[in-house]
Amino acid sequence: MSSLPQTQSAWIVERRGPPSKALALRSDWKVPSELKEGTVLVRVQAAALNPVGYKMMKMMPNFAAGRPLPAEHDLAGEIVDGNGTQFVAGDQVFGYISVELARVIRQGALAQYVRMPADHLVIRPPHVSPEQAAGITLVAETAYEGLIDIGKLEAGQTVLINGGSSAVGAYAIQIAKAKGATVYATASGKNEAFVRKMGADEFIDYTKAPLHDYLASNPPTPKFHIILDAVALLDPALYTRSPAYLAPNGIFLSTGPLPKNSSPSELWKVATNVFETFLRPTWLGGTKRKYKLFMMKHNKARLDDIQKMVADGRIVPPVDSVYDFDDVLKAYERMMSARATGKIVVKVDLSSDAEKEMDDTTPPPPPEEQIPLPAPPQTHTGSPTDFLKGVVGKRVIVRLTSGVDYRGVLSCLDGYMNIALEQTEEHVNGTVTNRYGDAFIRGNNVLYISAAEPL
Ligand SMILES: NC(=O)c1ccc[n+]([C@@H]2O[C@H](COP(=O)([O-])OP(=O)(O)OC[C@H]3O[C@@H](n4cnc5c(N)ncnc54)[C@H](OP(=O)(O)O)[C@@H]3O)[C@@H](O)[C@H]2O)c1
Repeated sequence: MSSLPQTQSAWIVERRGPPSKALALRSDWKVPSELKEGTVLVRVQAAALNPVGYKMMKMMPNFAAGRPLPAEHDLAGEIVDGNGTQFVAGDQVFGYISVELARVIRQGALAQYVRMPADHLVIRPPHVSPEQAAGITLVAETAYEGLIDIGKLEAGQTVLINGGSSAVGAYAIQIAKAKGATVYATASGKNEAFVRKMGADEFIDYTKAPLHDYLASNPPTPKFHIILDAVALLDPALYTRSPAYLAPNGIFLSTGPLPKNSSPSELWKVATNVFETFLRPTWLGGTKRKYKLFMMKHNKARLDDIQKMVADGRIVPPVDSVYDFDDVLKAYERMMSARATGKIVVKVDLSSDAEKEMDDTTPPPPPEEQIPLPAPPQTHTGSPTDFLKGVVGKRVIVRLTSGVDYRGVLSCLDGYMNIALEQTEEHVNGTVTNRYGDAFIRGNNVLYISAAEPL
């Protein structure tokens, strides 16, 4: 710690207001020097923005927000001092500081150094860049908490992700697919390819007709088990009309409608929303479906599971755009446009491998010396279609873009290379790390498939 500078650069939230008024870039912000038990010091490589950042800036008074303090919550970085925790100096990590925690510890992600609890961090898989990793935690934990912890999503169920191209939505699609669900997702037409790349089975363009009308006329069979509203609509119609398309024992989850401002019309919308979702009893015409508004609360076991899903390629962290540290206000403009697909990231440390070329959909495979290649694909002289037909029912090796291999009997595959295997073994570095009866592999994670027995 002795070679650390005394001060650092940080974007400080100094006052209430929109980012252009609330934020100041300071170079005299003190580098945290004392670490309490269980906390570590992180050199931040990249930070990601979330809507809660600018919403709190605009709405929360200074005393309640603990200002001044560095902005934002999600980050990726390098451990400078592990302070006797599971981390040691040099570990590459990602994680986040919640809004509540930020207020108490007066730390934020848009700073060069951050002191934070070790249990809010996990190791960054090497094939994921700091910019990709920076934006994972808050939205992935939100999607996971909604679908898995609250919604108790099971394989074979059908879910609707409203806002499939939002950051929460993109992770929700991937998590739901990884758990074996059928996923419907909404976005405007321009984002259909993105939403399908995330794994959505069905796409609905919400701009063509009011979503609740469309779904009431075209309900899925069976009806949805979970609707996750990742847009956080203030209009309660998607919920109040849901008996037409949400199963009787299903649940409607909202990530928390907030007004755009404190104008009377926005406040009226909030009041209507609260009445329809919480207050109106069913005997007075209230909606006969379960409704839950939730605010994500960090859970270490959940973050560990998310980290595994990122490591084995089941989750690919989508990045919308990357901004230089000096361009934070431009990053906020993009955030407030509500048009991003994936995370908006700010480079905090230009000397890290932050300069690495970004690819928001396909993580580069890990270095070859770490993961031996599987047996070379067999020579096949027919067409690719013949090959794919020929391997159904045979033992195959499916190599993921993350470098992990799945070996098993191919029970089926579709035109998107979504693959179902039986008697599945997961191989990492040439050794068996897991055995599953059946496994489902999403096509956009597949690098190639080869036959493991003669065709
Ligand atoms: N409760 C919690 O703990 C929690 C945690 C995280 C986030 N949130 C909240 O969840 C919401 C989403 O956050 P985020 O970071 O994921 O947002 P985001 O990435 O900024 O969302 C942008 C995306 O939303 C889509 N979108 C906008 N309006 C839409 C509509 N009416 N229908 C369908 N898609 C629409 C846009 O797609 P198009 O361009 O195609 O319209 C765009 O791709 C925010 O309100 C945020 O505050 C809550």
